[in-house]
Amino acid sequence: MKKSPTTRSIVIAVDGTAASGKGTLAKKLAAHFHFAHLDSGALYRLTALAVLDAKGDPKDPADALKGAQSIDLSLAGDPAIRTDVVGQAASQVAAIGAVRQALLDFQRSFLASPPGGSPGAVMDGRDIGTVICPEATAKLYIDARPELRAHRRWLELKGMGIARDEAGLLAELNARDAADKSRPISPLKQAPDAALLDTSDLGIDAAFAAALALVSTKIEGALKDRHRG
Ligand code: DC
Repeated sequence: MKKSPTTRSIVIAVDGTAASGKGTLAKKLAAHFHFAHLDSGALYRLTALAVLDAKGDPKDPADALKGAQSIDLSLAGDPAIRTDVVGQAASQVAAIGAVRQALLDFQRSFLASPPGGSPGAVMDGRDIGTVICPEATAKLYIDARPELRAHRRWLELKGMGIARDEAGLLAELNARDAADKSRPISPLKQAPDAALLDTSDLGIDAAFAAALALVSTKIEGALKDRHRG
C-alpha cells in the first residue's frame, strides 16, 4: 500500500467552528504531549492580510493566490491577523481551490516532519481530519453554541481593547461558519471518525480534560508503538 506523507508521525487533527476553542485546546494538547502545533487558520489569515495590504480582492482567485504565495510566516503571531475583517477575508480566500492547494504542501510537510524533532503534531483548522491528514492518529471536532462563541470572542476582543457589539459578532460568526461549511472545496465538516466535543458548558480546564480523554488512548498507544519500534 502506498504510504501517505504523514504516516510516520503521530497526528492530532482538531477541526471545528470559529471561536469554538479549538485553537486553545490544540495548543494545550501539543504542550501536554510535547508535540509541535500549527494553527492552520493563521495561514489563511496571513494570506488574507497579504491580499488586503496589497489592496487586492480576497474573492478574486488571482489576488488570493498571489497572497498565498507571498505569506510571511514570521507574522503568524501578529495581532493584525486576528481582527474580524481579516477573519472574514480569510474565509473568502479559503474558498479558492488554488489557495488551498498552495498551502497544502506546507501543512503536510509540517505533519510529516514536525519541527524540533517532535514525534507528533497537533494541527487545528477546518479540514485537517478530512483533507490534510485523513489518516491522523486521533481527530477531534470542536463546537459550541453560537451565542457562547460570540460571547467568548467579545470577551477576547474586549481584552485587546476592541469594543464590539455582541449581536454583530454573532451574525458575523454565523455567516463565516455557513460559508466555511457550504463551500464546495474542503468544507468544514466532522470527519466520520472524529470525536465531537461540545465546549458550550465547559471552562478551559474541563474542556481540555475532555479533549485529552478523547484522544489519550490512541496517542499513548501510538507513542508506545514508536518506542517499541
Ligand atoms: O480558525 P480561524 O478563524 O483562524 O480561520 C480563519 C478562516 O480560515 C476560517 O473562516 C476558514 C479558513 N480556514 C480554512 O478554510 N481551513 C483551515 N484549515 C483553517 C482555516
